[in-house]
Amino acid sequence: MGETIVLLATAPERAALEAQGWSVTARSFGAQLDADRIDRPRLRALVDRVAEVGTPRALDSDDVAAVLELDALTARDYPGSVATQHEPLDRGTATPSASRPAFGLLTAQGELVAMTYVDVDGPLAETAFTVVHPAWRGRGLAPAVKAWSVLALADAGTTRFRTGGSAENAAIRSANAAVGYVVDEEWVTLEPGRP
Ligand SMILES: CC(C)(COP(=O)(O)OP(=O)(O)OC[C@H]1O[C@@H](n2cnc3c(N)ncnc32)[C@H](O)[C@@H]1OP(=O)(O)O)[C@@H](O)C(=O)NCCC(=O)NCCS
Repeated sequence: MGETIVLLATAPERAALEAQGWSVTARSFGAQLDADRIDRPRLRALVDRVAEVGTPRALDSDDVAAVLELDALTARDYPGSVATQHEPLDRGTATPSASRPAFGLLTAQGELVAMTYVDVDGPLAETAFTVVHPAWRGRGLAPAVKAWSVLALADAGTTRFRTGGSAENAAIRSANAAVGYVVDEEWVTLEPGRP
């Protein structure tokens, strides 16, 4: 990939770069949900809606093989540019921990079909990524695992949740809105014009 700069859409440097021939090649967003604004009944409803498929739960080290399999299957599914790239997981980054909890949804047959990983720093939590098995998309599994993660982490003391993604990723934007995230940042990826 060539040279890129990711800036807030409102950053003052943007105009100067565009005047020099740089142009916007991708857009991304950040969104926030504060724990005191969580609508618990709504989040529980998002989880209940998928009860026929399964109930989300925290993932642990015993799930790593299934996580790596789902990650490999979906590695090329993340839209956007450098700002929203997904780093393929390895055994280390796939292993959930206190600072990197993960939540997943398994079918009755025990197949992991949805997962969300979160980076937790004190009272702050930021979604690292969320992904659903291609055969299971469009059934509300992403909102369900994200809702479950918010409920579980709020109970454990998280007060502020952040998430983000590619502006062109309508599916994750819609899932985030269902959970209650409010978009508060827009980012642009700039690349220099061709010589
Ligand atoms: C983004 C993603 C996690 C959404 O998961 P999901 O469980 O399919 O989400 P939902 O079921 O809530 O679907 C979200 C919307 O996309 C639509 N949709 C998504 N995938 C679909 C599919 N394969 N078929 C039909 N509709 C689909 C849904 O109809 C829904 O629209 P609506 O909210 O207007 O009803 C999933 O598409 C995915 O894994 N994408 C690749 C990884 C990625 O981009 N992750 C997000 C960045 S971290």
